Amino acid sequence: MTRAIYPGSFDPVTFGHLDIIRRSSAIVDELIVGVLNNRCKDPLFTVMERVRMLETVTKEFPNVKVTSFSGLLIDFATETGANLIVRGLRAITDFEYELQMSQTNHIMKPGIDTIFFTTSLEYAYLSSSTVKEVAMYGGDISHFVPESVMDAMNEKFQQKEELS
Ligand code: COA
Repeated sequence: MTRAIYPGSFDPVTFGHLDIIRRSSAIVDELIVGVLNNRCKDPLFTVMERVRMLETVTKEFPNVKVTSFSGLLIDFATETGANLIVRGLRAITDFEYELQMSQTNHIMKPGIDTIFFTTSLEYAYLSSSTVKEVAMYGGDISHFVPESVMDAMNEKFQQKEELS
């Protein structure tokens, strides 16, 4: 049985992430999307909100589960019995960081390998920060995120505006 983890911040999930989820879930028995509770980033959405958004947009994939984690990715992978870590490579700029991360993880746990998917061209430029910036200034984000995520973002920015 091949169980893989696709980790990330997913603040919020974009079509670029969904592209990786669709393609990687097609070649493994089970894909666990791991939402990092990252203390270094100041997220727009809470971990639970990110998990729920991901659950909604991955409903069509029966072998995909979504869960949150904190701490080291390799510990999370070990606890869940995963033997693969999935990452997407958008551009050459991603490469150095990803190589370092996969090699470090492999030294810590040689039984767990990282596999990379090259992001489909139409999403190569996408990042969650860009989407947030466009949404913050009222731009159209329908090309970047599913409708449910778009609604959640509009609601979040409206709440923030009401509070300020
Ligand atoms: N399509 C669109 N956007 C993508 C993408 C894709 N296929 N792949 C990545 N991105 C974007 C993300 O949206 C994110 O954008 P942002 O910086 O604007 O928010 C950015 O690229 C970074 O991506 P992400 O994959 O979410 O990386 P991350 O840095 O948030 O998380 C972890 C990477 C979770 C794998 C890593 O930090 C980790 O393992 N942390 C746990 C602690 C640990 O084990 N550390 C030691 C590692 S050796």
